[in-house]
Amino acid sequence: MQVKVYCRFILFLCMLVLCSPHSLAHPEEIKRSDFPSGFIFGAATSAYQIEGAYLEDGKSLTNWDFFCQINGGRFGKVNPSGIMFYNNIIDNLLAKGIEPFVTLHHHDLPQEFEDRYGAWLNPLMQEDFVYFAEICFKNFGDRVKLWSTINEPNLFAEMAYIKGVYPPARCSEPFGNCSFGNSDLEPLIVMHNMLLAHGKVAKLYKDRFKSEQGGVVGIVISMFMYEPLTDTKLDKEAAIRALAFNVAWGLDPLIFGDYPPEMRQYHGSELPQFSLEEIKYINGSLDFIGVNHYSSLYAKDCTQSYCPLGGDHAVKGFTYTTGERDGVPIGNRTGMERFFVVPEGMEKIINYLKNRYNNMPMYVTENGYPSPQHQNLEDTLQDSDRIEFHKAYLAYLAKAIRDGADVRGYFVWTLMDDFEWDHGYNQRLGLYYVNRSTLDRIPKLSRDWYKHFLSYDSVDNERSNREKFISNKIQNYINIRSS
Ligand code: BGC
Repeated sequence: MQVKVYCRFILFLCMLVLCSPHSLAHPEEIKRSDFPSGFIFGAATSAYQIEGAYLEDGKSLTNWDFFCQINGGRFGKVNPSGIMFYNNIIDNLLAKGIEPFVTLHHHDLPQEFEDRYGAWLNPLMQEDFVYFAEICFKNFGDRVKLWSTINEPNLFAEMAYIKGVYPPARCSEPFGNCSFGNSDLEPLIVMHNMLLAHGKVAKLYKDRFKSEQGGVVGIVISMFMYEPLTDTKLDKEAAIRALAFNVAWGLDPLIFGDYPPEMRQYHGSELPQFSLEEIKYINGSLDFIGVNHYSSLYAKDCTQSYCPLGGDHAVKGFTYTTGERDGVPIGNRTGMERFFVVPEGMEKIINYLKNRYNNMPMYVTENGYPSPQHQNLEDTLQDSDRIEFHKAYLAYLAKAIRDGADVRGYFVWTLMDDFEWDHGYNQRLGLYYVNRSTLDRIPKLSRDWYKHFLSYDSVDNERSNREKFISNKIQNYINIRSS
């Protein structure tokens, strides 16, 4: 009896070592086999940020073409060259064994919608988006099975309608100095139209395409993790509120059928209502959550004290966010002002989603590192800091998955140095260096690391299969002994 108990204890310890759900792989040892089988890895891009060719093949002008001060105008309907372009991309990816994961709307849209009716400020935009989505499902859905409707509606609403630094550059004081706009109200309307558009597209897919094409439809939300600036109850509540006003703003309506209660409490009647008819199609319209996560910030309460930069407004949830506490950054700085290296934030944001949304399937659709500014070419190419960044974030992601989070994929942002919106060409996040004059591409060290990380699967799989085999044996042994 004694021996049996002792053996069981030893076996229990072995099981703990083999299967410990809480352990964090050391970032140096993070490997592909730390992730479940079927987990997909990739590198993300967006059309406007890498394609160029703004006037080729009859493409109509977009809001970003105008915003970047390009004149002209050529508008059309379904453009066969556009369909052919994306057919070629999809076919070539598949030929190389790469599964396409397509986002329908990633910040840029035809300028014509802006001019005609104010684009996302107007419910008419929902119908145009549905029309566009249907064309994509019809033409590409035989090969594309992973669809995201909109990239970061929350960030888009903030940058374009609160701060006014993305087109159509609308805002009001104290958030920014724009000719038109209302930073307190317009982002709420824009988000509302985007969520309804998502719901309509998801319904379209379910009703008309899903049974034949068998794909899934989700949305991608920009997500910082928030830590209380101080240990006070007020700042702790502010951190929770910041998550509600940034993350749950875009997800609660699509999963529960309404905006987060925290937002209803602070906004009152200015937060739009969903009709019963609308609730029917937005509620439950997500097959997965797309997670764009780069960094964490501190949150400070503004209900009881003054905050600068509009933190004391309802649209900001009466929360002020910052990357510094007493002058000390929350993590190592990067090339972008609000992006700090805080790897544990990855585990925390995944767990927040897991708990709030009943562990709905998730994909990390963007995670990346902006190189420090003004690096020379050699340092840019020898980007070991980017490698450390990804290893550390992946280690915390693997830990969240071991603790039960249903995360099914991870995409590095970005494949190659791109056009970084309001930062123009001054930021480099790519696995490939792009010479801005010649357009030559040179692989960085991080490209080699990612390739190596992904290709070591077979060796590691063998080891993890062996580990699974041993732990199954042990479990069988325990079962037999205890029966
Ligand atoms: C956007 C990307 C952008 C990246 C880095 C994300 O919010 O989806 O388009 O390039 O952040 O700035």
